[in-house]
Amino acid sequence: MSEQGIDQGRRRFLTTAATVVGGAGAVATAVPFISTLTPSARARAIGAPVEIDIGAIKPGELQRFKWQGKPVWILHRDEAQLKTLPELDGSVRDPGSEEAQQPDYARNEHRSIKPEYLIVVGLCTHLGCSPTYVPRDDAQSHGLAGDWKGGFFCPCHGSRFDLAGRVYKDVPAPRNLVVPQHQYLSDSRVLVGADDTGAAT
Ligand code: FES
Repeated sequence: MSEQGIDQGRRRFLTTAATVVGGAGAVATAVPFISTLTPSARARAIGAPVEIDIGAIKPGELQRFKWQGKPVWILHRDEAQLKTLPELDGSVRDPGSEEAQQPDYARNEHRSIKPEYLIVVGLCTHLGCSPTYVPRDDAQSHGLAGDWKGGFFCPCHGSRFDLAGRVYKDVPAPRNLVVPQHQYLSDSRVLVGADDTGAAT
């Protein structure tokens, strides 16, 4: 290998190492901070609402976050995805979100405040596995039927949910995915875990 090649390789290694150390440093500073809190303050910090920047989530894309140790998903639904929801009313168990799986402001056809953003806790309502986001075009690779319109598939026992987190009929999961309390602080920032009703989950 030429000297120049070695230098470039080394530079790449050092850059990667610095990134990893930087990431580890961020974690390392967070842990002592939490550990210095009293038990009740620690419980509050772990359960505290989280502010999330959703501005970079592209249409059709899902991003995962953590709140209260649980996965929270934010799916930016595009026009075509939103159109699938009324088509599935006859295939899902609770099409009108009658059961208490969401705050009142998400009891609507898209189960959200803004139609384009779905915010749900990413845990299956059967036994708590974390389902997989399967867009329409990926149906085949997950063994789903050709008329799959996109949604969430739980690999543990085969439960399926649509793009609003509504559970299909005839699957083990009994209820729709949970929509947590949330409120928009701006067009691109959302607070998960509390809302302007004054209540925090
Ligand atoms: S835990 Fe999801 S189907 Fe059983």
